[in-house]
Amino acid sequence: MKIMITPETPEDKSSIYSLNAAAFGQENESKLIDLLRDSEHFIPALSLVARSESGAVGHILFTKLKIKGLEGVMYDTLALAPMAVLPALQHLGIGSQLVREGLKRAAELGYGSVIVLGHPGYYPKFGFLPASKWGIRTSYEVPGEAFMAIELKPGGLEGRAGLVVYSKEFDEV
Ligand SMILES: CC(C)(COP(=O)(O)OP(=O)(O)OC[C@H]1O[C@@H](n2cnc3c(N)ncnc32)[C@H](O)[C@@H]1OP(=O)(O)O)[C@@H](O)C(=O)NCCC(=O)NCCS
Repeated sequence: MKIMITPETPEDKSSIYSLNAAAFGQENESKLIDLLRDSEHFIPALSLVARSESGAVGHILFTKLKIKGLEGVMYDTLALAPMAVLPALQHLGIGSQLVREGLKRAAELGYGSVIVLGHPGYYPKFGFLPASKWGIRTSYEVPGEAFMAIELKPGGLEGRAGLVVYSKEFDEV
């Protein structure tokens, strides 16, 4: 299927909400996106919509995230969350295209790294590695291998060990 991937526009809001609700089978992620959109963490150029002739079929969101290092130093990174593809169109590679396009655009915007809490069977093919490799931790209780990171430029995470601080929006849904 031929798709185009471009940043969201105001007209996409309701289809982003409904496609995430359909993919996750609940509205928590849709609500999270709405909260993040209204927050300081939102980057309009990194809320990407996969579009087919019939409309929006997938979505991926990268938002600003901080790593709290030693002595309280804060490092900038990005959170990849959430991502979704319409159930009927999963397993066709649309999700992979969204991840690759998102990482490319994030690198072009100058971001040095991305963190994801996700399925360890999915993200490594894009280059994600366990975040523990860089000494990066999360306060969420998740299996270590599900907490992953990728450098978008050489050394993008070197010397940035610390605790990832998810914004309050992630705890509100
Ligand atoms: C995750 C998701 C966005 C992937 O989109 P997609 O277009 O199906 O992805 P691709 O076609 O590029 O890749 C599919 C492959 O990813 C892997 N994969 C996808 N979701 C997976 C999951 N939850 N667990 C393990 N592997 C998964 C499988 O290996 C799958 O391969 P297959 O097609 O041979 O079964 C989509 O499945 C989805 O919307 N899922 C529901 C929402 C969700 O769980 N989002 C991710 C967490 S934020």
